[in-house]
Amino acid sequence: MASSSSSSVAQLFFSFFSISTLLLLLLPFPSLSVASLGDDLLGAAREPEFADWLTGIRRRIHQRPELAFEEVKTSGLIRSELDRLGISYSWPVARTGVVASIGSGSAPVFSLRADMDALPLQELVDWEFKSEESGKMHACGHDAHVTMLLGAAKLLQQRKNELKGTVKLVFQPAEEGNAGAYHVLQEGALENVQAIFALHVDPFLRTGVIASRSGPLLAASGRFLATIKGKGGHAAAPHRVIDPVIPASLAILSLQQLVSRESDPLESKVISVGFIRAGEAYNVIPESVTFSGTFRSMTTEGLSYLMKRIKEIIEMQAAVHRCNATVDFMEKLIPYPATVNDEELYAHVKAVGEGLLGEANVQLRPPTMGAEDFSFYSQKMASTMFFIGVGNETMSPTHNLHSPYFVLDEKALPVGAALHAAVAIKYLDGHNKRPHKR
Ligand SMILES: *[C@@H]1O[C@H](CO)[C@@H](O)[C@H](O)[C@H]1NC(C)=O
Ligand SMILES: *[C@@H]1O[C@H](CO)[C@@H](O)[C@H](O)[C@H]1NC(C)=O
Ligand SMILES: [Zn+2]
Ligand SMILES: [Zn+2]
Repeated sequence: MASSSSSSVAQLFFSFFSISTLLLLLLPFPSLSVASLGDDLLGAAREPEFADWLTGIRRRIHQRPELAFEEVKTSGLIRSELDRLGISYSWPVARTGVVASIGSGSAPVFSLRADMDALPLQELVDWEFKSEESGKMHACGHDAHVTMLLGAAKLLQQRKNELKGTVKLVFQPAEEGNAGAYHVLQEGALENVQAIFALHVDPFLRTGVIASRSGPLLAASGRFLATIKGKGGHAAAPHRVIDPVIPASLAILSLQQLVSRESDPLESKVISVGFIRAGEAYNVIPESVTFSGTFRSMTTEGLSYLMKRIKEIIEMQAAVHRCNATVDFMEKLIPYPATVNDEELYAHVKAVGEGLLGEANVQLRPPTMGAEDFSFYSQKMASTMFFIGVGNETMSPTHNLHSPYFVLDEKALPVGAALHAAVAIKYLDGHNKRPHKR
C-alpha cells in the first residue's frame, strides 16, 4: 500500500494552496474548489477540540453497545448531541432510528447514513473504554459510523446557510441481519431523497485511505428453512411409511446444481446448507426432515432466481417421493439485495475523496460476498458506499470486523466526518437547478 512521505504531503499542501489562491485571484466570484473545501473541513474536524469531542462520543457508544432495534441509549445520545447543535430531527424512525435535516429544507435532498447496532459478541480487547455490556460489542465499527455522522452534522450545521439544498442524516437501527434500512424506507423517512452515501470502516485499509468501486460491491443474501414431511414408521417396512430422508437428500444435492448447472460460471453465487435435523433411531424412519442454509449472489436478480428455484426443487423432490414440503425464507429477516454503487455518485465521491485525502489515498476495491442492508437504499435511489481505513499497525495488529479483538484507529473519525460533509456539500452544489443568488 502506498504511503506518502511528509515532504510530498507538504508539496501537496502547497500545490493545493497555490491552486486555490490562483482561483481566488482569477475568479471574480470564487466558488470553493473541492481541495480547499476539503482542507477546510478536514482541518476543522482535526482541531484538537473537535477531534476530542468525536473520540469522546465514540468511546461512550463503544462502552454501551446495543443490539438490533434495541439502540435506545445510542439513539438518546445522538438526539442529545443534535439538540446541542440545534439540529432538528424525526424520531423514532423504525423504532430507534433518528433522521436529522440540515439546510434549506427544499430540493435537492442528499442523504448520509450511519448504522447504530452492535453484535452479540464478548469484547476481548483489553482497554480503558471496553464494552460494559457483557456479550455485546461494537465489533463492526458502527460506533465509529455514528460518530463520523455526528461530526458531519456539526460541520454541516456550521455551514447551514451556504447549503444549496437539504442534507438528511440517517442514524439507522439494525443493520446486522435485521434489515433496519428496509424499515426506515417502509416508514417513508427518505421519500424526497435523490441520493445517499455511507461509509463502512475497514481495518485492512490504513487510516487516511478510502476504497470502493463502481457497480456491484457486496452480495445479495438470503436464508431458507425447509421441512419435508412424510410418514414415519418401522425402517424394515418402507412400503408402509413415506420416507422423507430420500427426498431431503436428493433436494440438498440438487440445490448444488443451481450454481454449477444453471448459473453463468462468471457470475458469483453460493448455496450452503448449514444444518440438517431428522430422526432419533437407526431403525425408525422419521416423520420429517428439516434443513436450512444461506444463498448469495452478486446480483439481486440472481438472488431472486435462486430463491424461486430453491423452493421449486425442494417442493418437487418432496412431491416425487409422496411427501409434502414447506420452504420458509424467513421473511421477517428480509433477504438483503446486492449493494450496487451508482456510477455517477461513485465518481463524485471519488473526486471529493481525492481532493480531501490525495489521489493515492482513494483506492479501487474488488467486490466480496459479504452483505449490507445499505443495499435497500440502492434499490430506491442513487447510492454509493465507501470503505474507510481504520487500520494502524503502529497502534495495534489488525483484526477483522466481527472479531472480539477488533480495534480501530480513532484518528479516522475526523476523516470520516469531513468526507461525509464534503460529499454532501459538493453534491448539493452540483445538483442545484436554480441560479445562484448573490
Ligand atoms: C400432503 O398434503 C396433502 C394435502 O393436504 C395431504 O392429503 C397428504 O396427506 C399430505 N402428505 C403427507 C405425507 O403428509
Ligand atoms: C497511527 O497511530 C500512531 C500512534 O497512535 C500515530 O502516531 C499515527 O499518526 C497513526 N497513523 C495514522 C496514519 O494516522
Ligand atoms: Zn457487521
Ligand atoms: Zn457493519
